[in-house]
Amino acid sequence: MTAFKERLNCDSFVKNLETNAFGKRCAVFSEIGSTNTYLKKNAEVLESGFVALADIQTGGRGRLGRSFESPSGGLYMSLLVKGLDDTGISSSTVKVAVAVCRAIEKVSSIGNDCLQIKWVNDIYYGGKKLCGILCELVKCGEENCLIIGVGINILPIARKVSPEVRKIATSIADIIDDHDSVISNDIRERLSAEILKNLENMLYRPLSCFIEEYRDRSCIIGKDIYVIKGSELIPAHAYGITDDAKLCVHFSDGHFEMIYSGDVSIREKK
Ligand code: BTN
Repeated sequence: MTAFKERLNCDSFVKNLETNAFGKRCAVFSEIGSTNTYLKKNAEVLESGFVALADIQTGGRGRLGRSFESPSGGLYMSLLVKGLDDTGISSSTVKVAVAVCRAIEKVSSIGNDCLQIKWVNDIYYGGKKLCGILCELVKCGEENCLIIGVGINILPIARKVSPEVRKIATSIADIIDDHDSVISNDIRERLSAEILKNLENMLYRPLSCFIEEYRDRSCIIGKDIYVIKGSELIPAHAYGITDDAKLCVHFSDGHFEMIYSGDVSIREKK
């Protein structure tokens, strides 16, 4: 395998950027609790487009209060965005998922349209999770700011994560069977640059430009699922995604709902 550069630095990160503002100011940590938490704490004083990156997170955070294991060998990046209006903020989850899928497919040799999105915004390949996304709102003075956190597994997953994560997660290296030319030593720089370029192009455009691709990439539509409410797993069938990205579900007791937040899991066929 090509030597994976274990330490990122600001210079090599900035050199790859093709953006106007996103990432031009950055902080790179060899180890930090969570890059999202760093931006949250400093949002008032940092400018829009500021990016925090880490080689390792010791307290990586996921959606719904979960933790996100973040050993070395992954890309852990958070972006601060100010000045989005309310519709931009609410639709950003969808846009980020599409932006990250496109970026991973372009930079790795995974192949176009191979990555899937598990509602709301986990990125999957072959039934396993490759990337998690955590979008958070924070108050910056009078306005709301958005923090977009992206965690992508790059090196083989088995080596560093817990047995529970190993069962459900995959990595770029696992997917492509690790050809030397693909896991290049600057893959994190190229991936982060591509993600930021996509986000800069997409976040300020209407959701309608991306919802079709979001639906096409869904690995949930047409599946029997569980809707997870606290510790309860409620059986349902997912039959669509609305134009504003709500999941349309038909519960086994007969009622229909359009859910806008929470989590679901795919029911295994018996
Ligand atoms: C999830 O899977 O529920 C979302 C995971 C999001 C992980 C990223 S890694 C960079 C940023 N910092 C965090 O603490 N979380 C996000």
